[in-house]
Amino acid sequence: MLLSTSLNIFLLAFKIKQKNLMTNEELIKRAKEVQKKAHAPYSKFRVGSAILTDDGEVFTGCNIENSSYSLTICAERVAIFKAYSEGKRKFKKIAIVSDSKNFISPCGACRQVLMDLAGPELEVILTNSMNEMKVVKLSELLPLPFGSKNLKKKKRG
Ligand code: THU
Repeated sequence: MLLSTSLNIFLLAFKIKQKNLMTNEELIKRAKEVQKKAHAPYSKFRVGSAILTDDGEVFTGCNIENSSYSLTICAERVAIFKAYSEGKRKFKKIAIVSDSKNFISPCGACRQVLMDLAGPELEVILTNSMNEMKVVKLSELLPLPFGSKNLKKKKRG
């Protein structure tokens, strides 16, 4: 009993620590690790992404291309879909990495998916190959978004 209580306290403390200690740099590191797993035989443009949930967990994703090009899926969507399929619904920030000297910024499709599934307050960490980062809110990348509110039918008079 005492042992299980102390174990729970320890686990809670560990979780709180994890939640507070995930810096942008660490999230970028996780994105760099998964970037190595990108399947990009057509574009050769390898992307990695890592998304942080509000309870301090990290889910990663890389781009996965398809010979039928339009079926390719971006790293950002892989990351958030993985998190969603594990039941996660609240997110703090997402980091994106590539080998480009220009800041990598999510494509339009990913912006829409992130807006729907993570919301306008999500922090998006854009990076370049010079190890620089820019942090923006998703609402800055996708102003005036389409969303579930647009699907509500107007009340009958
Ligand atoms: N890509 C991403 O994974 N994320 C982005 O933010 C931009 C583009 C991928 C899609 C495709 O596999 C390759 O990069 C070139 O567009």
